[in-house]
Amino acid sequence: MATFGQVIFYTIITLIVIFTVVIILIFTITFTSQTTEALSSSTKPIGNVGEDLVLDCYLYSNVVGQDTFTQVSVAWTKADLEGEVYAYRDGAPNLQGQAPQFRGRTQLFPDSISQGNASLLLRSIRLSDQGDYTCSIDSSGGGGEISIHLRTAAFSAPTFSFSNGTLTAVARKWFPRPNVTWVNQTGSLLEASTAWTQSPVGTFAVVSSLQPPHLDETYSCRIENRFVIAVGEATVAEAGVSQRTYFVYSEAAGSLPVSLVLDAAAVVLSMYCVS
Ligand SMILES: *[C@@H]1O[C@H](CO)[C@@H](O)[C@H](O)[C@H]1NC(C)=O
Ligand SMILES: *[C@@H]1O[C@H](CO)[C@@H](O)[C@H](O)[C@H]1NC(C)=O
Ligand SMILES: *[C@@H]1O[C@H](CO)[C@@H](O)[C@H](O)[C@H]1NC(C)=O
Ligand SMILES: *[C@@H]1O[C@H](CO)[C@@H](O)[C@H](O)[C@H]1NC(C)=O
Repeated sequence: MATFGQVIFYTIITLIVIFTVVIILIFTITFTSQTTEALSSSTKPIGNVGEDLVLDCYLYSNVVGQDTFTQVSVAWTKADLEGEVYAYRDGAPNLQGQAPQFRGRTQLFPDSISQGNASLLLRSIRLSDQGDYTCSIDSSGGGGEISIHLRTAAFSAPTFSFSNGTLTAVARKWFPRPNVTWVNQTGSLLEASTAWTQSPVGTFAVVSSLQPPHLDETYSCRIENRFVIAVGEATVAEAGVSQRTYFVYSEAAGSLPVSLVLDAAAVVLSMYCVS
């Protein structure tokens, strides 16, 4: 006769064995049934008017090692738009239904499609490209879709010139319309006059003039909208104006594509010139 203690002991052992088997089964089922989903490294990108931008979208599979897909088809659509932004079906672009404003400005990366990469290259961004895009991917191994909210803005570094006692900063494209403030080296605000001219595509050219109180000093011109702050620093000297600009992206901008940040760094290097 088993004692009461032995009964308890064997019951517990049995329960442990049953639980272990159930957990192993759950793991096995989870990792062998393939599920896929569409993902993006940036669902709220900001495009700078006139530049190119990649809207990132790719198919992710939970099965380790399952990183190639067959019979991939991709459709990019935009909310409230008749026609597609881009479509890829049966191994080729399928553009009969493409909306006219995206004609010749969009492409996928054909070599990466079989890895589930459905990223869209959008060339020469326009303000009107702003909106909600949907990337839908389908393949023999499953599919998925994801929304990407593209915001468009414009920003550019100012260039400075000095003549007749006036230091002038000119920035050729900004959107939304930015604020312009000038400060001296100790950070005091200075009186300046600024004019904005809107171009037919909607961006603003900015011209701001300062009568610098002293020469041989550095003045900062800060051009700012809710996405970006450009700080241009100019020093007037005998030889001309030396200048540099750096960009600061606001919190509202969220995560910016790396290319934009690199562009900004390149501007800082290239803008330093004594004319
Ligand atoms: C997809 O391809 C584009 C272009 O080569 C690249 O920029 C992007 O990082 C790729 N995305 C993934 C998830 O590999
Ligand atoms: C230079 O400034 C003076 C005084 O502000 C003005 O009278 C003159 O017209 C200016 N010359 C030019 C070329 O802008
Ligand atoms: C900046 O401007 C303020 C106010 O006009 C002035 O008191 C200060 O000396 C200026 N700083 C420099 C470095 O010129
Ligand atoms: C621009 O200036 C106005 C008035 O000073 C201010 O209300 C607004 O917040 C500023 N905008 C930005 C983006 O700094």
